[in-house]
Amino acid sequence: MKLMVTGCNGQLGRAIYGLAGKEGHEYLGTDVGDLDITKLSEVLAYAEDKRPDVIINCAAATNVDGCEKDEEGAYRINAIGPRNLAIAAEKTGAKLIHISTDYVFPGNAERPYRENDTPAPKSAYGRTKLAGEEYVKQFCRRWFIVRTAWLYGDGKNFVKTMLALSEKMDTIGIVDDQLGNPTSALELARAVMALVPTEEYGVYHGTCEGICSWADFAEQIFKLGGKSTKVERISSQEYKRRFPESADRPAFSAMEKMMFRLSGIYEFKGWQEALEEYFRT
Ligand SMILES: NC(=O)c1ccc[n+]([C@@H]2O[C@H](COP(=O)([O-])OP(=O)(O)OC[C@H]3O[C@@H](n4cnc5c(N)ncnc54)[C@H](OP(=O)(O)O)[C@@H]3O)[C@@H](O)[C@H]2O)c1
Repeated sequence: MKLMVTGCNGQLGRAIYGLAGKEGHEYLGTDVGDLDITKLSEVLAYAEDKRPDVIINCAAATNVDGCEKDEEGAYRINAIGPRNLAIAAEKTGAKLIHISTDYVFPGNAERPYRENDTPAPKSAYGRTKLAGEEYVKQFCRRWFIVRTAWLYGDGKNFVKTMLALSEKMDTIGIVDDQLGNPTSALELARAVMALVPTEEYGVYHGTCEGICSWADFAEQIFKLGGKSTKVERISSQEYKRRFPESADRPAFSAMEKMMFRLSGIYEFKGWQEALEEYFRT
């Protein structure tokens, strides 16, 4: 199949590139330098010229605190961008696989969020990503929305930040009262690629198995990275006191993968196993 991948230089985009060739697909990678998804005329011209079978949208404004400071800028990329891709997908008959986030949920649930739970984002990032989901549903018919979380791969992410901080700090204060699903970009890419040939459209939650706090995640990173750095377990309130500019994040954003389970399309690894794979490769 012919795959058009937007945001191809990002963490997920890079992981998909690695798999697309192996699986025998034709790969058309674009990023903001050559195709800005916020420009409808450019997106339409590109899709009408290349006629992809599937558009995979990995492009996004992912800096949660940055989105808080510039919500309009984030809206342009996280909402208008996918709207443009949805219009292009509809016009050219392509499927659209759009990636979204656990931050569309408020984070006050007592069990992992299911695909059909009602979103209610608390942050500008979450609000703009939810608007993107709504546009995708509105403007094309053959869509998949895959919500992921706490992503790390080849790029800027929590794992790399922790390893960099461990070079200069003996103890690091990490939030222990926010729970979620750390997810490797490689695992997510495998799941996305498993959706490509199907017509099982809908909203999917795509995260590694298992739930932990940022502090648990950091401890595992230091263990696998052979670092002696200690984790000081702090509350979100204490973090906000130290970094007042930071955006509010959901306390509990773990997600259940009901749709992947019911369809049998992909089974994710546990988060510790995926993290070990990341350190090995
Ligand atoms: N990272 C996470 O923890 C996380 C968590 C939940 C959900 N997600 C979602 O997962 C998906 C993939 O995330 P990721 O971590 O792979 O993202 P990423 O590493 O930040 O990559 C996003 C890519 O999109 C590009 N981009 C930005 N604006 C663009 C535009 N207007 N047109 C075209 N490309 C543009 C970025 O370029 P520049 O770098 O030059 O801006 C970057 O190469 C996103 O939908 C994200 O919202 C991520």
